[in-house]
Amino acid sequence: MNDLEALVAEAHARFAQALHPADLENAKAAYLGKAGRLTALMKDLASMDVELRKTRGADINRAKQAIEAALNARRQAMADAELDAQLRAEALDVTLPGRRRGQGSLHPVSRTLERIEGIFRSMGFDVAEGPEIETDWFNFTALNTPADHPARSMHDTFYVEGGHLLRTHTSPMQIRHAVAHVKRYRDVLDAGEGMPEIRVIAPGRTYRVDSDATHSPMFHQCEGLWIGERVSFKDLKVVFTGFCHTFFESRDIALRFRPSFFPFTEPSAEIDIQFGHGPLAGRWLEVAGSGQVHPNVVRNMGLDPERYIGFAFGMGPDRLTMLRYGVNDLRLFFDGDVRFLSQFQ
Ligand code: DAH
Repeated sequence: MNDLEALVAEAHARFAQALHPADLENAKAAYLGKAGRLTALMKDLASMDVELRKTRGADINRAKQAIEAALNARRQAMADAELDAQLRAEALDVTLPGRRRGQGSLHPVSRTLERIEGIFRSMGFDVAEGPEIETDWFNFTALNTPADHPARSMHDTFYVEGGHLLRTHTSPMQIRHAVAHVKRYRDVLDAGEGMPEIRVIAPGRTYRVDSDATHSPMFHQCEGLWIGERVSFKDLKVVFTGFCHTFFESRDIALRFRPSFFPFTEPSAEIDIQFGHGPLAGRWLEVAGSGQVHPNVVRNMGLDPERYIGFAFGMGPDRLTMLRYGVNDLRLFFDGDVRFLSQFQ
């Protein structure tokens, strides 16, 4: 191997060792650069005699071409490797399953509320909605629960600025709705004629300082109110029994009206239901409070309690949802875990 062949072999080896483009360019400079080895050999030609210079010059040129070819080949190999790496990094796995757009569905409690509304509408009830931030008057005082009434202690709640509070029940809607109704039929009332009956339910969110497996600081209630000239406790029994049978799609349910106390009703009763079948069969389960609307409340509605009477009830849609679907922890409804919620689709 002559010196030129050795130089070409050496250059090959150095180019092969270069791992980065910058290494390669440095290696190139060592042979082909201004101070490179090949460049130095070219300079030597000047001092040679003509014949020798011819053959030596041709040999050096061939060596130079060989080194340049090796350099280009290595450059190309590096560029190819880089492209390969980039393609691999950005590779798409076309066998991955596509991402579907998730389909939402109604919350189980919303389903219950829709169900309740549908059933009561079919019995001629209106559906009303009211504010969740209430005044003391509508939440308590107008409902025959003055400031010093002990029943208030069971309704501890959250107070907001300006003396307002988060309503502890949907009962304030009894007053709000009745007052609006009375206003609408003012002329009829003033003329001493009969006013169309008030028949309404008011579902919505309510709040109390309470939290365990069966109590959540935010929960739902649905109020019911029927006021007229001949509305009796019997009507309450018929309406609520019909509701329970339709809601649970079964007539195999007994109802019990258990004497109780609420400031805004007299007499008052808790409504318990008992399934004749299924996992809860035989147990009495409380589902609502109810009663004949107290004369003071009828008066606060703007009506004469000697003429207008009726009943009210307040039930817990969350509880009804638990019973209907067999859920034993109320908090599951409000944790927002889609693994739980998607079971109700
Ligand atoms: N508001 C009552 C509560 O939250 C429930 C209730 C009881 C509502 C009797 C009524 C009723 O309308 O007549 O405990």
